[in-house]
Amino acid sequence: MCIFAVRVFLGILLCAPYQCLECPFGCECFAVTRTVKCVSKDLLTVPQSVPGYARTVIITGNNIHQIAPDSFTEMENVTNIILSNNRITEMASHSFSVLINLRFLDLSGNQLALIHPEALSIPGSPLQELNLSRSLYNFTALTDLTTALRWGGLGGLLRLDLSGNHLALLPPGMFSHLPNLQQLFLTNNSLVAVYSGTFSGMNHLEVLDLTQNAFRIFRAEALQELEKLGNIHIHLGNNPYTCSCEIRNFVTWLNESRALLDVDAVRCASPGALTEARLQRLSVQAIGCVVPVQAGVADLTLQTSYVFLGLVLGFVGMVFLFVLYLNRKGMKNWIIEMRDACRDVMEGYHYRYEIDSDPRLGHITANKGGSRAQAHLRLALSQQLPNDTCIVQVPSDTQIKQVTTFPPMNL
Ligand SMILES: *[C@@H]1O[C@H](CO)[C@@H](O)[C@H](O)[C@H]1NC(C)=O
Ligand SMILES: *[C@@H]1O[C@H](CO)[C@@H](O)[C@H](O)[C@H]1NC(C)=O
Ligand SMILES: *[C@@H]1O[C@H](CO)[C@@H](O)[C@H](O)[C@H]1NC(C)=O
Ligand SMILES: *[C@@H]1O[C@H](CO)[C@@H](O)[C@H](O)[C@H]1NC(C)=O
Ligand SMILES: *[C@@H]1O[C@H](CO)[C@@H](O)[C@H](O)[C@H]1NC(C)=O
Repeated sequence: MCIFAVRVFLGILLCAPYQCLECPFGCECFAVTRTVKCVSKDLLTVPQSVPGYARTVIITGNNIHQIAPDSFTEMENVTNIILSNNRITEMASHSFSVLINLRFLDLSGNQLALIHPEALSIPGSPLQELNLSRSLYNFTALTDLTTALRWGGLGGLLRLDLSGNHLALLPPGMFSHLPNLQQLFLTNNSLVAVYSGTFSGMNHLEVLDLTQNAFRIFRAEALQELEKLGNIHIHLGNNPYTCSCEIRNFVTWLNESRALLDVDAVRCASPGALTEARLQRLSVQAIGCVVPVQAGVADLTLQTSYVFLGLVLGFVGMVFLFVLYLNRKGMKNWIIEMRDACRDVMEGYHYRYEIDSDPRLGHITANKGGSRAQAHLRLALSQQLPNDTCIVQVPSDTQIKQVTTFPPMNL
């Protein structure tokens, strides 16, 4: 009886400072698994008075806009915090610094726009895994994060997830203050290039995931940077690789690299003929580096011969014009001569026409003979026509014929 009373008394005494039954409003507390869950309760702040036994705190689907330095007081024994999908936009300085045992922090699915340079710093660098998947609001947030990774003293970080953040470029040396990082997830971003220094300072990396980005090619600089990482797992699949001759170095690297690659997922997105073709072991002919030699030469010869023909024609034309120019006097004379000759001929025809249509010819009688008629005609015409008329050139037999064939009308 007495022992029972002492037990009850002790029980009340221990439970009195809200340690046994207390669970924050809107949350479920599980002492056995040392877990507190506050899921989709429209909470506006991180709940206070979390039981001391809690090691894992899950706060998701709420409306917590800001994480402040006092958000996690009295949670120094918590090791895992999941804060995904809470519309968090701002993380103040030393937001997590009371969480000296925190190993796992999930901030995925938020809209971080403002990250203080010391937001992630925790004394003793206990953090091992940080999930920032789909959590960066814009490019400003990325530069903020780069600073926070530098100033956060995250020397113990082993795993970092930055997937789904629309990242187009990584600031050089962004991860250089994470010397013990083993796994880096950059999947589902918009990365197009890796530069010298992008992955500098990571000497313990084991997994690098670059799948689902916008890489069309890895240039020599990028391949050097990847090769420096050694024989680690590198995931490069599901990128829109363009398999033209330019990608040759990348294919060679895929052929020869000591890295452990997801070669089966590394496939061409274009050109059409090579869509879905595996890049590794692609031949140089297939990617169009080896142009058929003879066709090329023939083409060149053809072009050369066209050029040569053009030059020759041009030269001939020039010579022709030059000769014409030199002979301009002779040409002029020739043209005048030609004109005169033409005029003579034309006048000759004109004359013939007039003779043919002359009615006086009808009075010449057949019996007077050809020669007489001709003489009469000459006489008559010479009296009427100007002196320079080339009467002599008219063939004499024409008139005779005409005369003789005329019907003897007057007889
Ligand atoms: C954390 O754990 C230590 C040691 O187990 C304990 O003394 C301390 O009271 C705990 N803190 C909280 C807030 O429960
Ligand atoms: C980070 O969180 C996302 C979604 O919350 C999850 O899908 C992903 O697996 C997590 N990353 C790691 C490395 O566990
Ligand atoms: C990112 O968003 C913040 C907050 O809305 C804004 O102040 C900043 O100018 C934005 N940065 C860019 C690069 O758009
Ligand atoms: C990729 O990221 C976008 C936005 O960041 C997200 O909506 C989408 O679900 C992600 N896709 C995959 C396959 O993870
Ligand atoms: C890659 O290897 C394949 C076969 O092993 C070879 O035919 C091809 O030419 C190589 N490609 C390059 C660009 O080295």
